Amino acid sequence: MPGRIRIVVNGIERVVPAQPERSLLHVLREELDITGAKYGCGEGACGACTVLVDDRPVRSCTTRLADVGDRAVTTVEGLGADGRLDALVGAFLDEGAMQCGFCTPGMAVAATALLAETRDPSDEAIAAALDGNVCRCGTYSRIARAIRRAAAGAATELDTLEPAVASLDLARPRAPWSLTDARERDYFDVLPAGLVVVLDPGEDDGTTWSTTRDAWIHVGAVGTVTAFTGKINVGQDNRTALRLIVADELGAPLDRVRLVMGDTDVCPFDMGTFGSRSMPDAGRVLRRTASAARRVLLEAASERLNVDAERLDASDGAVRDMPSGRSVAFGDLVAREHRVVVVAEADVEPRGAVSRRSPRRHGTADTVTGARRYAADLSRPRLRHGAILRPPAFGSTLRSIETDEAEAIPGVTIVLDEDLVAAVAADPVSATSAVRAIRAEWNPPPLQPSDEDLSEHLRSHPADAQGWGGGFRQEAGDVDQALAEAEVRLEATYTTAYIAHVPLETRVALAEWEGDRLTVWTGTQRPFGIRWEVAEALGVPEADVRVIVPDAGGGYGGKHSGEVAIEAARLARAVSAPVMVRWSREEEFTWGYFRPAAVIDVAAGARGGVLTAWSFTNINAGAAGIESPYTAPHRRIEFQPAESPLRQGSYRALAATANHFARESHIDELAHRLGADPVEFRLHHLVDERLVEVLRAAADRAGWRTGNAALGIACGVEKDCYVATCARVRLDDDRLRIERIVTAVDCGAIVDRDGLVNQVEGATVMGLGGALTEAIRFADGRITDPCLSRYPVPRFTDVPPIEVVPLDRPDISSAGAGETPIVAVAPAIANAIFSASGIRIRSMPLAPDGTITR
Ligand code: FES
Ligand code: FES
Repeated sequence: MPGRIRIVVNGIERVVPAQPERSLLHVLREELDITGAKYGCGEGACGACTVLVDDRPVRSCTTRLADVGDRAVTTVEGLGADGRLDALVGAFLDEGAMQCGFCTPGMAVAATALLAETRDPSDEAIAAALDGNVCRCGTYSRIARAIRRAAAGAATELDTLEPAVASLDLARPRAPWSLTDARERDYFDVLPAGLVVVLDPGEDDGTTWSTTRDAWIHVGAVGTVTAFTGKINVGQDNRTALRLIVADELGAPLDRVRLVMGDTDVCPFDMGTFGSRSMPDAGRVLRRTASAARRVLLEAASERLNVDAERLDASDGAVRDMPSGRSVAFGDLVAREHRVVVVAEADVEPRGAVSRRSPRRHGTADTVTGARRYAADLSRPRLRHGAILRPPAFGSTLRSIETDEAEAIPGVTIVLDEDLVAAVAADPVSATSAVRAIRAEWNPPPLQPSDEDLSEHLRSHPADAQGWGGGFRQEAGDVDQALAEAEVRLEATYTTAYIAHVPLETRVALAEWEGDRLTVWTGTQRPFGIRWEVAEALGVPEADVRVIVPDAGGGYGGKHSGEVAIEAARLARAVSAPVMVRWSREEEFTWGYFRPAAVIDVAAGARGGVLTAWSFTNINAGAAGIESPYTAPHRRIEFQPAESPLRQGSYRALAATANHFARESHIDELAHRLGADPVEFRLHHLVDERLVEVLRAAADRAGWRTGNAALGIACGVEKDCYVATCARVRLDDDRLRIERIVTAVDCGAIVDRDGLVNQVEGATVMGLGGALTEAIRFADGRITDPCLSRYPVPRFTDVPPIEVVPLDRPDISSAGAGETPIVAVAPAIANAIFSASGIRIRSMPLAPDGTITR
């Protein structure tokens, strides 16, 4: 067959174009629509694309079609089909061994190969075998447990698992409900018969600032409850916690509660999933909306059963008359109705009960089997792929362009749309090749600093930023005088590098126009923000843009902005066909944004062993977590914005990590200088009882003893979440090993205990990267290491045992816990290094090449 060759995939002979240089990953995904193998890096450095070739694990992104020959290829779908995956699926779900799930199919394939070789793998064998597979969400220890569980035959049988919660694929309403009056919305053009209850919040009381309070819930004829939120799930599993809240408040079984998230046409407006606001904002709103729905159902049941509503209670999906025992199911109460009821929030009294009982398992089987579809896995009829011509350096401008060669490539369309130069083709590799064939000349970029002159640059380039990024100053007493009079005075400067989010799924958007109306599928953390950005950029009304967030492969604050969505929308309009744009890993490193670098000057003074003066100035990184919990009568705390040479933006806990690194290192050093125990010194200066408790809890669990020469501790509070982390380290000839990490956390009432622990573990692992090795290097307007093989994120062998001590506060509103647990990791390690070696390291990353510098 000329131009075609045969390969065997999952036991089936397939015929594909004879392009021997094409990667196996490309062939699987683009030719065969087998999407379990994911693109994460394209250079063999992340394992997301792992498949088996003759039962040996290979990276399909670096395996050429020519290398496969007639050997058998097995993807995660093939393992699922022949039952080889069953034990692993059950074990992954039993252990909750996933967050965003983007790495999971690759992990499952690698684990299958390991288990075929070794029936009872040790932790070391698992870490060694899977060290090439990155889980950016940091679920390594859970994955290892899952593999051991599967090996031991202890996984839950698949057919006894609860049904997966399906996401909905809803029709498009006439206009976005968030932009339409509650009584005008066409709910039942989109939803099946039943009851829709809408919360009327009245005046804005500012309690839920990131999300509107006019949420809605649908109860269907078979008793299925569908709640809507503009929040999205990038792996933090707020989905489970929010479903638990709705189920609890409404009295519905958890498995009947579905959540539609991040669809701007049918969900209430939301500013974005950031700042740990899912629980305080969306959780609060959904609890009240569910409470309103319960009230409507009780009233309906009161009429149906002809009894006083006071006698009724809602539980397990039915309303019960307690004295008589009679009951009526939710579905029966709303069957054949098309009723919309608006309930004033003032009339709602939430029960407020929180189950504090995690569901038996977390995650869904389709995550392991590869059936779960992320943005890059979606398809539309006539779908084409776009690739963008990028400048060689930040600030370079296009001088001239020659596209003849690129345009001569069959099937390629070159798009020149003002500043957008791109190629559109039937597949992403052809589009990228066509962009490479464009001959462009660029004006050189302006002179730009490198990472080596960064501190000096930030100091000498203050910026006059306003709003959220604006300066901050807090002053009490006379700091200069107190420092001058101090018996012990300690001054130091701390720095942190820019670091990248590295979500395993790079930015992806698929855009499709239907007449004047546009739909964009993209894994953003700000669907409504992207709706606005796209509408602005394309010059169309916001109401004509629908943004849908499919499952997203990680975010960590890095998926806030809408560039890729705008690119896809512009290209789709230019070629009159749906277009997907998927950023390469290099584009992700170069054209995204970074966690801001910091230069922090700290001065502390003490008299009589007591902190008397505290001066703290953060340049560039931000004011998050900048306020000190330690009493000092004289204090000056400042944040000075600076002109950042790199694009910077949100990141998990943002500047709180840098501020905690500087503050907790400095307090530790001061304690040592004063001959005090670092824990006792902190306790002596803390007034917040919740912080005292987490500090004690972490110290106790870690076995803290005065003078222990391997432990370091740090604590802090941010976003109403309290944490303390204790690290134990070992130095082998200056090679740093983290032996154990204990984190105590108090984020108020615990809704989903295992989900909370999973988030703390993940934040800790992510914190290890920024603490120890991660740093963006740059010079002359270029990122010098824009690839995963040279940007060291934590892997299996880097992760120590992590122990989480959750402190439940049933009486206090739940705060988010996905961010704050990252803040104390770096200072705890820095303080442990000092305990172990007497070396104080004041710059993050602490050990870029794995060793500390004496
Ligand atoms: Fe192939 Fe990363 S190893 S995509
Ligand atoms: Fe592993 Fe998100 S669960 S990358």
